[in-house]
Amino acid sequence: MIDFTPLPARLETIETDVPDNHLFSFHLPQPLAIAPGQFVELSLPGIGAFPVSAVTWPTSDILHLCIRRVGRVTDALYRLPVGAMVGIRGPFGRGFPVENFPGKDVLLIAGGLGVVPLRTLLHWLLAHRGNIGELTVLYGSYDAARLLFRRELEALATAGTIRLAFSVDALGADPRGTGTIPCRFGVVGDLLADLDFNPTTTVAAVCGPPVLYTHLLEKLAAAGIPPDRIYATLERRMKCGVGQCCHCVIAGVYICCQGPVFSLEELRIMPGAI
Ligand SMILES: Cc1cc2nc3c(=O)[nH]c(=O)nc-3n(C[C@H](O)[C@H](O)[C@H](O)COP(=O)(O)OP(=O)(O)OC[C@H]3O[C@@H](n4cnc5c(N)ncnc54)[C@H](O)[C@@H]3O)c2cc1C
Ligand code: FES
Repeated sequence: MIDFTPLPARLETIETDVPDNHLFSFHLPQPLAIAPGQFVELSLPGIGAFPVSAVTWPTSDILHLCIRRVGRVTDALYRLPVGAMVGIRGPFGRGFPVENFPGKDVLLIAGGLGVVPLRTLLHWLLAHRGNIGELTVLYGSYDAARLLFRRELEALATAGTIRLAFSVDALGADPRGTGTIPCRFGVVGDLLADLDFNPTTTVAAVCGPPVLYTHLLEKLAAAGIPPDRIYATLERRMKCGVGQCCHCVIAGVYICCQGPVFSLEELRIMPGAI
């Protein structure tokens, strides 16, 4: 049974490394068990609420969220001082079927803010690293300055824990930015061309803007990854996030409750989903 009661959460820290994509931490009265790919509803009293993915795993009584300032409620959040109280409800939705990952190579492909739920999944995979094969992260952003969690990803790549490649839509003044791994110009799907992987042993998880899914999911299937082992999260389709507004319903499926994570096998029988 879903609990709709908000927990009071105190804003503890705000990290501002990437403009308008700040990392917030909140202290909760009790830990929330949020699985990779699930989300919570953050509410500002008297202003509104929005769904947001957890950005770390496991979650504890400190909840980390990476939030882009895009509109009314997120703008109000950006104006709050440390110590302010917000409400957190959840966790909600069906996340990644992590039981299908052990024993497999894993390919994570993120576009823009889509790196948030994939970072949670990455933390889960790192905690189970002994049972995971090759772990690869492909991440595309508008430009190098907007790559989130870049230092963490590069440190993992330097240690040999993951294989990592970046792409950028715009080269900007410095295509490398402040990082150690250069960014390739183009879309993130282009990075697959240089990737050596065995599709028969691979599980793929993709998260990004809808345009990313249009060709990439079928491209992964054409490369030989079984469609029931290609996962995508359909966050962009939602509004209320909790089964109340019907905004997300596609082919009779409530994306917010029955998803947001679906396999390509499931998406193929949901016309209009991708
Ligand atoms: C399951 C889920 C997880 C999410 N996780 C995150 C996250 O980790 N970090 C984060 O910053 N945002 C996340 N979002 C998006 C976030 O919920 C919206 O950005 C937020 O609702 C905007 O609220 P607002 O009132 O500030 O903006 P609004 O005034 O409501 O909207 C401003 C702009 O944002 C766009 N927008 C609204 N909803 C979404 C959405 N669901 N996805 C993309 N664009 C949207 C609108 O089209 C509009 O252009 C997630 C959404 C869902 C459904
Ligand atoms: S987003 Fe409102 S019902 Fe799913």
